[in-house]
Amino acid sequence: MTANFPFSLFTSLLLLFCTASPFRHRTLSKSDVDLIEFPLNLEYFEAEFFLWGALGHGLDTVAPNLTLGGPPPIGAQQARLNPFVKDIITQFGYQEVGHLRAIKSTVKGFPRPLLDLSSKTFAKVMDSALNLTLEPPFDPYANELNFLIASYLIPYVGLTGYVGANPLLTNPHAKRLVAGLLGVESAQDAVIRTLLYERATNSVHPYNITVADFTSRISELRNQLGGSGIKDEGLIVPPYRGAEGWIQGNIIAGNRYSLSYKRTPTEILRIIYGTGSADKPGGFYPKGADGRIAKSYLGKHI
Ligand SMILES: *[C@@H]1O[C@H](CO)[C@@H](O)[C@H](O)[C@H]1NC(C)=O
Ligand SMILES: *[C@@H]1O[C@H](CO)[C@@H](O)[C@H](O)[C@H]1NC(C)=O
Ligand SMILES: *[C@@H]1O[C@H](CO)[C@@H](O)[C@H](O)[C@H]1NC(C)=O
Repeated sequence: MTANFPFSLFTSLLLLFCTASPFRHRTLSKSDVDLIEFPLNLEYFEAEFFLWGALGHGLDTVAPNLTLGGPPPIGAQQARLNPFVKDIITQFGYQEVGHLRAIKSTVKGFPRPLLDLSSKTFAKVMDSALNLTLEPPFDPYANELNFLIASYLIPYVGLTGYVGANPLLTNPHAKRLVAGLLGVESAQDAVIRTLLYERATNSVHPYNITVADFTSRISELRNQLGGSGIKDEGLIVPPYRGAEGWIQGNIIAGNRYSLSYKRTPTEILRIIYGTGSADKPGGFYPKGADGRIAKSYLGKHI
């Protein structure tokens, strides 16, 4: 026993070293690197939005190194949340920090892009989805219901991106990473949708518009901006769009086989810029997204 000790210590250390050693990006193909770096754009957004919403501070306080010196988000605020929703959103915020670490231990990544998380930007998205001018303007930070509706905007888009990226990846470590990210993003989306589904028929104060209608209109807007058919569905749908074409409750979005929809980076850029064009930045990304895929559209090659 004692004689074996140094040897087993050595093998344990060796094992620890091997499993803890970050996977090196130089062994990934260029295409795999691009596909894994792209979602950092969404993960930065989610980390900042959830951390600020729940805690009143973001990555600059929680994990400054992960920003790689990128500018702080514009207009992010703490939201007025009840303790239950605050607890959940805090967990989501820290989960996103983990996602940023996971991606950056695999690929080099890029600094946090400039994000516009001001109420005004969310209000514009909602007005555009509803095709009217809400009065007073929609404020994502006003209460937990508004914050959950605003949270409906991004993790879902992230998850469709992971579904789209997975079959294009060649390296098993890259696929494992994306499957892990997909699992948690989908779970976050499901939690958000469940909390909203509970109040699907309630009006969103002070507007005479139900929660379900907000989600349907946001999903319609994303379908329109994405420009490639229906890949997005609200919480209540015509029964033919529900699971097995049978049911109008649509707590989780899925295709006719209830499989998650996939999106390409191009579709995602069109949606998150709010412009319908991957070469026209705007919305939450006033200067555009980063990484080789996004930059290729902006005429800035890296
Ligand atoms: C963060 O960055 C600073 C400066 O580059 C470095 O000294 C520090 O070790 C880093 N911390 C972590 C946790 O990586
Ligand atoms: C948006 O609203 C305007 C004015 O009410 C209307 O003319 C237009 O048809 C609407 N567009 C859509 C896509 O519903
Ligand atoms: C709210 O909307 C419903 C359905 O669109 C309508 O029947 C009702 O009259 C509206 N109520 C108010 C106060 O505008």
